[in-house]
Amino acid sequence: MRPEITDVEHEVKSVDLIVSKSDAEGNIMYVNPIFIKISGYSQASLLEKPHAILRHPDMPKAIFRYLWENIKEGNDVVAFVKNLCADGGYYWVLATVKMAKNPDGSFRNYVSTRRSITNVAKNQISALYKSLLEIEKSEGEEASWEAFNNFLSSNNIHDSETFNTFMKNLNK
Ligand SMILES: Cc1cc2nc3c(=O)[nH]c(=O)nc-3n(C[C@H](O)[C@H](O)[C@H](O)COP(=O)(O)O)c2cc1C
Repeated sequence: MRPEITDVEHEVKSVDLIVSKSDAEGNIMYVNPIFIKISGYSQASLLEKPHAILRHPDMPKAIFRYLWENIKEGNDVVAFVKNLCADGGYYWVLATVKMAKNPDGSFRNYVSTRRSITNVAKNQISALYKSLLEIEKSEGEEASWEAFNNFLSSNNIHDSETFNTFMKNLNK
């Protein structure tokens, strides 16, 4: 059951580090205590569920497409995410998602570590995501993906390294 959306923001403190791990499909295999506290879901209701349980309707699909295209290739992704809480509220984070490997080089899991974000970042990223979502709804996913890529090129972001640096700098 998806909760009814509210505009109640849950505070993420600057000391908070919200961690989860997933299998290759993005199913949650581990959450740390602060993840459980902020999301409001019990550990049992999170484990083995897709991470999309946290998906907020304000998030444009283009961001998750970018995330998956990169993490599957082994590129780390640093991205701003608005997440849904069990009570319908939300919290913003800057997530770093990485692929972890076993000693023999095979896939182990994906790990996401999430930190608090600044108000400046929140304002800028909310505006970007709002416009991408509007395009997604009016013109479709491909048009929104194109608009996202135009945003990246106009900010001289041409690979995952420049993308991650840009996002980290926005949060300073
Ligand atoms: C390690 C890991 C962490 C993730 N964390 C989140 C998250 O916090 N919030 C979220 O909405 N999606 C997260 N995702 C992305 C989801 O797997 C999914 O792509 C996204 O929620 C969009 O859902 P959809 O593909 O069903 O539209 C994460 C994926 C991975 C691999």
